[in-house]
Amino acid sequence: MLVFPGQQISPAQQVAFSRALGELAPTAWVEARLDDQPDIFVIGNTGRALVSFAPADGSDRLEWHADHMYRNDPARASLLYCRQTPPTGGDTHFACMYSAFEALSPEAQAEAEQLHALHSVDLLPGGLKPANDDGAPDAPRLVRCPLVRHHPRSGRRALWFGSKVTVGIEGWPPDRARAYLDRLEAHATRDEFRYRHAWRAGDAVLWDNRRVLHAGSPFDTAQHRREMHRTTIREDHPVR
Ligand SMILES: [Fe+2]
Repeated sequence: MLVFPGQQISPAQQVAFSRALGELAPTAWVEARLDDQPDIFVIGNTGRALVSFAPADGSDRLEWHADHMYRNDPARASLLYCRQTPPTGGDTHFACMYSAFEALSPEAQAEAEQLHALHSVDLLPGGLKPANDDGAPDAPRLVRCPLVRHHPRSGRRALWFGSKVTVGIEGWPPDRARAYLDRLEAHATRDEFRYRHAWRAGDAVLWDNRRVLHAGSPFDTAQHRREMHRTTIREDHPVR
């Protein structure tokens, strides 16, 4: 991930910069698209929809994910630009999944490499339903993907799963899968693999969703305003 502090960019400039990196994937959440620039996903509480990826149930457990993990063409990269931020709260956590994979024992690495994770959007906060509203009516509700991705550029391996968006392990009973994924998350999001970004207006953060997970944290939506603009760059390699 890269942090570019102190930027002053318009939505059109953000879109133009992002397009130079690849094809964009607008959010399935039509209400959260910026009117004049539908490739921009407005996250926060200033738009038509309240969009938060912090735990909606008041729990302090973070919801780790990679963007568009529930799609067959997930996000390769995301660019998140901060236009307004509350004085406290709303931080974004990032975790390096190369490091997390490489810190597993050889036996645990071999086990993980055999597994396929099942991803679904149904449990995400906000009730995104991409099968209905992303313009792809045949989009599957359950996406199967290797639990360990091989990065197409570096060849390094990265754990690839989310807290809620990953709903199971192919061929495993749900209880066994949940217990395994919870243990894996506790390992993969240990402090030494993490960076916590406290936003300032003008920060632009670009990250590689193939090897980095991220999670939002809550803020006081009644008292403060948060406005983030995300552009999302579509995966252009087979997901494996
Ligand atoms: Fe995200």
